[in-house]
Amino acid sequence: MPGLAEGRTVIVTGAGRGLGRAHALAFAAEGAAVVVNDLGVGRDGTPDPDSPAAAVVAEIEALGGRAVAHGGDITTEQGAADLVALALDTYGRLDTLVNNAGFLRDRMLVNLDADDWDAVMRVHLRGHFLPLRQAAAHWRAEAKAGRPVAGRIVNTSSGAGLQGSVGQGNYSAAKAGILGLTFVAAAEFAGYGVQVNAIAPSARTRMTEGAIATALPEPEDVSPLVVWLGSDASAGVTGRVLEVEGGRITVMEGWRAGPAARNAGRWTPVEAGEAARKLLAAAEPPAPVYGARKS
Ligand SMILES: NC(=O)c1ccc[n+]([C@@H]2O[C@H](COP(=O)([O-])OP(=O)(O)OC[C@H]3O[C@@H](n4cnc5c(N)ncnc54)[C@H](O)[C@@H]3O)[C@@H](O)[C@H]2O)c1
Repeated sequence: MPGLAEGRTVIVTGAGRGLGRAHALAFAAEGAAVVVNDLGVGRDGTPDPDSPAAAVVAEIEALGGRAVAHGGDITTEQGAADLVALALDTYGRLDTLVNNAGFLRDRMLVNLDADDWDAVMRVHLRGHFLPLRQAAAHWRAEAKAGRPVAGRIVNTSSGAGLQGSVGQGNYSAAKAGILGLTFVAAAEFAGYGVQVNAIAPSARTRMTEGAIATALPEPEDVSPLVVWLGSDASAGVTGRVLEVEGGRITVMEGWRAGPAARNAGRWTPVEAGEAARKLLAAAEPPAPVYGARKS
């Protein structure tokens, strides 16, 4: 039986270790040719001379799969352009982009340096935007030339982006931003056959080692859903957010309007406050922020 990703070319960013590596191996096992991107940085984004991408390519090839390494930085326009060009030059096509690369600089907000804010925003938000724009430009050109496109983008958010996480103000804001990017990209790219979804994964990797007290499941548990989202088989699914941890997949239902009140004229501040208190009492409480003290 042909694999789910047979004939597709898939880029996975940050695929030298952790979740990205698991996704790359899973796509290759389902027949895809994989571009394994990884700049090779430390847990906090500091430079590391060795890109682990080549080792993942060797693993895929040893299993009989097809892969090529890309050691560039996806937060630079050149890095993102080279990445898409490598897929097209090597395999003649691009079908799926999995935006996954990232790192943490955790601090409580009062202690958070502006540089640590910028670095985390840059790797997650700009690091999603640039490859996404590059891939979408290719798919738009393909569609305009009359060639069929079944483009897929899988973005990587986080529970921190969905609910917030104490000590991760920069990361939570970046991961929430990825959700907004996902919704807009899904709407803008629908016209040329490209679907854009986001996952909020949870897995034991270098990123979560020591940071999360409870033992998390394997990254390999997350990849089957990513492969499906990145394949032809997910046709019709776009603009959605799915949480995935171990054997559990949850569709996130996101922001939706709750109780509302309308005033014929402009509210006074006191009236607005009274109305807001009544509405808040009738509304669902928000999901708790990870790590927040129980009041
Ligand atoms: N592990 C979890 O439980 C978890 C939870 C929620 C979200 N995530 C997200 O999943 C993604 C993968 O995380 P992970 O846990 O596998 O982390 P990881 O540290 O194991 O892997 C991330 C990889 O990204 C690479 N990278 C960093 N900056 C890069 C750049 N500019 N260009 C190219 N590659 C770069 C690193 O070298 C590293 O190999 C991240 O976006 C992370 O925020 C992970």
